[in-house]
Amino acid sequence: RPQVVETVSDLRAVVREWRRQGLSVAMVPTMGALHDGHVSLTRIALERADRCVVSIFVNPTQFAPTEDLDKYPRQLAADLDRLADAGVQLAFTPTAAEMYPQGFDAKVTIGGPSAGMETDFRPTFFEGVATVVAKLFLQTLPDCAVFGEKDYQQLCVVKKLCRDLDIPVEIIGAPTIRDTEGLAMSSRNAYLSPVELTQARQLNKILRKTAQALQLGAEPQETLDEARRQIINAGFDGVDYVEARESNTLAPWRRDRDGRILVAARLGATRLIDNVEIAAV
Ligand code: PAJ
Repeated sequence: RPQVVETVSDLRAVVREWRRQGLSVAMVPTMGALHDGHVSLTRIALERADRCVVSIFVNPTQFAPTEDLDKYPRQLAADLDRLADAGVQLAFTPTAAEMYPQGFDAKVTIGGPSAGMETDFRPTFFEGVATVVAKLFLQTLPDCAVFGEKDYQQLCVVKKLCRDLDIPVEIIGAPTIRDTEGLAMSSRNAYLSPVELTQARQLNKILRKTAQALQLGAEPQETLDEARRQIINAGFDGVDYVEARESNTLAPWRRDRDGRILVAARLGATRLIDNVEIAAV
């Protein structure tokens, strides 16, 4: 099993010793309930650096009061077994009080890529993410950190956080790991009933067809409206957004640029997000 530390000072002591030995350090921030998607990030991390720190922290500041903070899956022992199999050296599992002591008052706001999409439905989400990721980076001071393309807008926000605040951590984007039917792995998939699981598996298929249509020259707004109808027909209860954006900046997509279709849709009490690439023509 990896070494486990719960405090910033213990974390820093381990990393300091690694640095003394001349070792490079990669970080993979997570909220636990680890699945193959998370494990793939640790594999990439260990290709890039000598040591890998995985943080496991269900970050309260990125959940709205109405969201699933209390029922978010927590399974530390199983997570540590997975990290052991993956060869991860250190798990950082701070308490909420360690991260946000009495009187904690800072907020990191990133404009640009955080505008729209997730922010329209979870207004304070990226403030919570940017604040906790900034803290994790400054606590650990890794050379690089790996984030999944699964949360594509989050990946863009974290890159912008480091650029705008001169945080010297290289951000590496990692491909989305899916089940055999194309459903993106997610800790929240555990909430789905068997029927919902079948419906959820349609989402990526619809996105891939939509991307193909756009690549072949279909009119964007009509095509995205059609995708929205197909998602509802597949059994989803609502589509928060389905949008085509430019891959790097998340500005509105233009046909001559690499693009991304990003979606959030609701299935019962579960909210799923996914995205696919639109290749430049
Ligand atoms: P969490 O949802 O646990 O995800 C941790 C990391 O795993 C993120 O970078 C996410 O994009 C990646 N990931 C999740 N599912 C994936 C999949 N199917 N394939 C590849 N990568 C996947 O994202 C968060 O936690 C939090 O917001 C965090 C960044 C830790 C800040 O609290």
